[in-house]
Amino acid sequence: MTPTTTENLRVAIIGCGSIATRHAQGYQSVPGMDIVAGAEPNQETAQSFQERFHIPRMYSDPTEMLQQEKPDIVSVCTWYLLHMAHVVAAVEHGVKVILCEKPMALNLAEANRMVDICAAHGTKLAIGHQRRFYPAWTRARQLIGEGAIGQPVLVTGHVADGLLNTCSHVIDGIRYALGSAIPVGRKSPQPGEPAAGRAVWVMGAVERKTDRWERNVPIEDCCLGLVQFNEGVQALLQIDLTARNEPDCFTIQGTEGMLMVEPDQLRQISLIHVDKISISVPWDPEIAIAARAVGLEGAFNIAYAAQARSLKAWAQETSGNYPYRSPGSEALQTHEIMMALYQSARDHELVRLPLQVQQNPLNLMLEEGKLPVLYPGRYDIRGPESQTWPHREAYYRLRAAGLSHPEIMARILGVESMPQDSASVS
Ligand SMILES: NC(=O)c1ccc[n+]([C@@H]2O[C@H](COP(=O)([O-])OP(=O)(O)OC[C@H]3O[C@@H](n4cnc5c(N)ncnc54)[C@H](O)[C@@H]3O)[C@@H](O)[C@H]2O)c1
Repeated sequence: MTPTTTENLRVAIIGCGSIATRHAQGYQSVPGMDIVAGAEPNQETAQSFQERFHIPRMYSDPTEMLQQEKPDIVSVCTWYLLHMAHVVAAVEHGVKVILCEKPMALNLAEANRMVDICAAHGTKLAIGHQRRFYPAWTRARQLIGEGAIGQPVLVTGHVADGLLNTCSHVIDGIRYALGSAIPVGRKSPQPGEPAAGRAVWVMGAVERKTDRWERNVPIEDCCLGLVQFNEGVQALLQIDLTARNEPDCFTIQGTEGMLMVEPDQLRQISLIHVDKISISVPWDPEIAIAARAVGLEGAFNIAYAAQARSLKAWAQETSGNYPYRSPGSEALQTHEIMMALYQSARDHELVRLPLQVQQNPLNLMLEEGKLPVLYPGRYDIRGPESQTWPHREAYYRLRAAGLSHPEIMARILGVESMPQDSASVS
């Protein structure tokens, strides 16, 4: 059913765990969005979610929910190994607007399928890069467009907890700030469209010596990524190589200055005028008030109110021109960069985009025996499994003390440092 502009929008949520609570609060901050159902196999989680958000009906099976409820909007808040299946199911049940969490999918084939099936069915696909709604990220984009720091040259970002998990936000944010703009429904820009945020090639390095997983997907111990964008800009990304975990922030150096980008603040250094200014960029007061009314405080949380509000506007517009900030076509580019970084590590060479390999190159490296685990013992840094990891407390204590992931693991494993090859493992 295509939503009309007068009826309330019927929203349903698949996967009612941690981030789904932010989606629910976001929807409840916007008049005219009714959460009619949730799909959650864990009975305890389902019950507390239903009670907290006063949701009329809960289902254990998403397909049954889609059949029964015929929602206008569906949030996909499951782990990313399930994203494609749940997006496809929603499309096949006639859902016209989908907000799927990041990272978009497990590999490029899945991400492409999600964009293609949505385009074929006229479904609007949004990906949960909600940080694009941070006011200072948008102001940074404007300032860069106006030439406030001259020609951008180098962007740096530091995160922990995995390339796909946290760095997806930073890569996406950098692309947004640099001015990527691929219209909804298309996969590439046309001549004349801003394309500084479009990657040309990448070079990546990956280490995986411990059996590290995130939400039931194997991930690397650490990763270094260099991304060459159009117009001469490069991004240098450090993932789990320092203790810094800053998915909200990045620094852009230009020929005439520098911008340190945070959610609602920018610090600008001008090389021309030798001055330094702090720019506070407040939220739209209407959004901030609506967010606070449902308990969403702080930039990370307020962004969910902004995201829901924009999603409603996108759902209701019929012109096809609504500038939703994080459509699937945009997130696909972010996803391709991450997959290309893995592929570069796999082949020890610079990888030009578009990426040809459709499978997840990290998984391929594991299958090919290119990343042997030198310290056996599977652990998962997210989800319920992380709660029972015996080293959890020590891990985060050491990270707070300033150690990077490989340094922490070396301490936990009782070795001086992570050796270079299996021969040096006792
Ligand atoms: N945008 C952000 O800033 C942000 C922040 C946190 C998490 N996330 C993303 O959100 C997604 C979910 O993460 P989370 O931390 O909320 O996980 P979670 O484990 O807290 O929640 C996932 C829920 O999905 C349920 N589930 C499992 N299989 C299901 C199925 N077949 N059908 C329906 N539900 C099912 C689980 O029981 C669980 O309650 C991940 O992709 C994660 O990367 C995004």
